[in-house]
Amino acid sequence: MKIFIDTANLDMIKEVNSWGILDGVTTNPSLIAKEGVDTPTRVKEIAKIVDGPISAEAMSLDAEGMIAEGRKLAAIYPNINVKLPMCIETLKATKVLSSEGIDVNVTLIFSAQQALLAAKAGARYVSPFVGRLDDIGLHGCDLVGDIMQIFMNYDFDTEVIAASIRGPAHVIEVAEMGCDIATIPYNVLKMMVSHPKTDEGIQKFIADYSKVNKN
Ligand code: E4P
Repeated sequence: MKIFIDTANLDMIKEVNSWGILDGVTTNPSLIAKEGVDTPTRVKEIAKIVDGPISAEAMSLDAEGMIAEGRKLAAIYPNINVKLPMCIETLKATKVLSSEGIDVNVTLIFSAQQALLAAKAGARYVSPFVGRLDDIGLHGCDLVGDIMQIFMNYDFDTEVIAASIRGPAHVIEVAEMGCDIATIPYNVLKMMVSHPKTDEGIQKFIADYSKVNKN
């Protein structure tokens, strides 16, 4: 499974990139606003750090505007893909942008039928929001499984990005399903590294080592 980081914070991106496990980055307008910079500036900076795909969201609500914005974002750096929120205008824009070789990540996916339509329009990625479905009393990971089954039935090339990940359990559940990508916040990535028994084991080895080694 590919691991993306879901942030626009450069320090977090640099750190996780140094771990050797990072395949890409997703941003959204809220994440970029937190950093106090504009989208083109920030995605350009991210593209200098990470080789893999970087999602940058276009804000137009009509297909024409999305296409124009999408072309500009994609022109910033070759690995930038255009993130568009699921709606009819996005389907139209996805068809045009994908036919020009520009990758589109259709975001805010909350149903399998939305994912099916996005894939048919030529989306390179769809992003089902696991955590936000959990927030309304559903089991968000089920949606990831449903979408993957449909894409497999029809051999769609569209990759599924499990988004709105809230904890390591989400990551493992979608990984067990064989999900293509999980986009994971920094705090969850840190949680995935640690285990109290690992920390305890390290401390014990250090203590035992120092009993018989001078340096
Ligand atoms: C997806 O690409 C979004 O940036 C993100 O995963 C949204 O997550 P949230 O529900 O925690 O805001």
